[in-house]
Amino acid sequence: MKNRIAQWLLRCVPRWSRATPVDVERDRANLAAVLARLMADAPGDIRYPAAYIDFLRSCLEIQTPRIRTVKRSRGDPGTGSAKSFGSLLDALGTVPPVEIGFAREMAALADSFRGMTERMESASWAGDIGAHFEMSSSFGHKGRILAAIVRFMHPSSCLELGTAYGMSASFILRAMERHVGEARDPKGWLTTVEARAQQHALASRLLASRHGERVRCELGWTRDVLPALGGKMPPVDFLFHDAGHSRRDFVHDFRAALPLLGPGAVVLFDDIDWDDPRFARSNPACHWGWMEVVRHPAVAWAVEVGPDMGLALLGEIAGR
Ligand SMILES: C[S@@+](CC[C@H](N)C(=O)[O-])C[C@H]1O[C@@H](n2cnc3c(N)ncnc32)[C@H](O)[C@@H]1O
Repeated sequence: MKNRIAQWLLRCVPRWSRATPVDVERDRANLAAVLARLMADAPGDIRYPAAYIDFLRSCLEIQTPRIRTVKRSRGDPGTGSAKSFGSLLDALGTVPPVEIGFAREMAALADSFRGMTERMESASWAGDIGAHFEMSSSFGHKGRILAAIVRFMHPSSCLELGTAYGMSASFILRAMERHVGEARDPKGWLTTVEARAQQHALASRLLASRHGERVRCELGWTRDVLPALGGKMPPVDFLFHDAGHSRRDFVHDFRAALPLLGPGAVVLFDDIDWDDPRFARSNPACHWGWMEVVRHPAVAWAVEVGPDMGLALLGEIAGR
């Protein structure tokens, strides 16, 4: 009971909020000048300039998600990774922006996906690639959190579940490239898993053309692909979950991925409160799934980043 009260208190107290109203005001003025300059230099073939500028804004504007601790095991969850994880949480108080050149590259890439008119259908939705891309992809705010995780935790082997069009994978890969020469493994690489052939084809072509052999895109459902990955890759340091959005999917995928994760690995779940009536089963109960992950004995430290993301550090001693 005492433990439950302590956990509840931890959730209620945000870790910190760094930006003052003066910071926010100054950022707004700076950003207006930067965006005006970037738009003056924008490629001439941009088809959706308002969305393009919004993408740039999401990469650069001040971003201060609330960080709430939901679990902190007693004892040291592993000196090296716990120290980096603590520093990462500090950094996420004001999420670092991405570099301007990369922001422009990604904004132009998003613009080209938005213009795709090929038919796209899922069980409960029908439209075109452009509209589906807009609903399902990561833009600057999420991309920056992924980049910050890579920057602070220096993973050399990453696994992403739910590739879609390759936007989040691009943020991860670019952040890994920045550590070439500094990272433990300068050849850091990413494996992604995507169930739908249409998205898999687009993403794997894009990612291979930009990152070559550093990325491997698996086609299939996580339930089939994850068990088959055992023994085929080095221990995973960073797992990004953005595949099935339901309690069952969260818990299943976490358990299936555990044998692949190394000690001190970081796990990020997107959309922990997701419930989109266009796609959701009656009650996806994602937050219940996330909390089941948090309660797993392998999880040493867990926080919620803003309303959407759950971030966990595994202990050094595998509890799996
Ligand atoms: C929200 S989108 C991923 C977005 C992408 N990570 C990004 O941020 O740009 C979710 C993707 O996961 C795929 N997916 C859903 N359930 C899956 C499963 N169990 N196994 C593999 N892929 C799955 C969907 O087809 C969809 O493309």
